[in-house]
Amino acid sequence: MSAPSATSGVPRHVAVIMDGNGRWAARRRRPRAIGHRAGARAVNLCIDFCIERGVQVLTLFAFSSENWGRPADEVGALMKLFLNALDREVGELHRRGVQVRFIGDRDRFDPAITARMRAAEALTAGNGRLVLAIAASYGGRQDIASAARALAVEVAEGRLRPEAIDEAAMARRVALADLPAPDLFIRTGGDLRVSNFLLWQLAYTELWFTEVLWPDLDAATLQQAFDDFAGRQRRFGLTGDQVAPTPTADTMAP
Ligand code: IPE
Ligand code: IPE
Ligand code: MG
Repeated sequence: MSAPSATSGVPRHVAVIMDGNGRWAARRRRPRAIGHRAGARAVNLCIDFCIERGVQVLTLFAFSSENWGRPADEVGALMKLFLNALDREVGELHRRGVQVRFIGDRDRFDPAITARMRAAEALTAGNGRLVLAIAASYGGRQDIASAARALAVEVAEGRLRPEAIDEAAMARRVALADLPAPDLFIRTGGDLRVSNFLLWQLAYTELWFTEVLWPDLDAATLQQAFDDFAGRQRRFGLTGDQVAPTPTADTMAP
């Protein structure tokens, strides 16, 4: 995980809970699956916006470990949508220099989907314009539990002393460990909660919520989030003066 930075400006890593597809469809008296399909357009808009602004990492919450509990027809529609999106979008993402990654428990997906995930990761692994991390079958608690399990295995095999388990050791074993932690969290759909997204990684992330439903997302809404972020002071537990000392006679230019 990267060193804390108190400087604002453009977030290096943006993490998004894309919520509100079902309600978007319900307002139109359409099935929920139609809302998910409409949400796919917003995914492209969000990726374009982040590339234009020079964001380094975009993590999108596409499907949570709890979402498997939804009605079978909705889960089925979402799986079909993933499959289609993987077939349709990956070539273009590659052309644009996007590195695609997936985080979450991929063993729960159909092999047709996991094969495409692997292929997308392999194809785009060398790209550096934007890292697009898609959280699918992802849960923050599951992420932390699997990091703990990895540490336990190393202890059991004599490769790690229990005293060596500290925050840095955990941080190296959770998802996205090689990337800066999210600077800005965005949730659409109006609910003010984290819903088991990146629990470890969000410790000092700036949170931003909007009533806008995911399929209605537009660049102006994202700009509002970025502007708000740029105006915030991140203190990481320190005092305001420590992170941005008030000018004194000594520091003022003559
Ligand atoms: C987010 O939209 C997409 C997924 C969770 C897959 P929802 O489907 O949760 O939409 P709402 O919250 O019911 O409106
Ligand atoms: C979070 O949304 C998960 C995704 C957007 C993929 P949910 O709709 O599942 O969250 P809750 O149930 O409202 O907390
Ligand atoms: Mg929801």
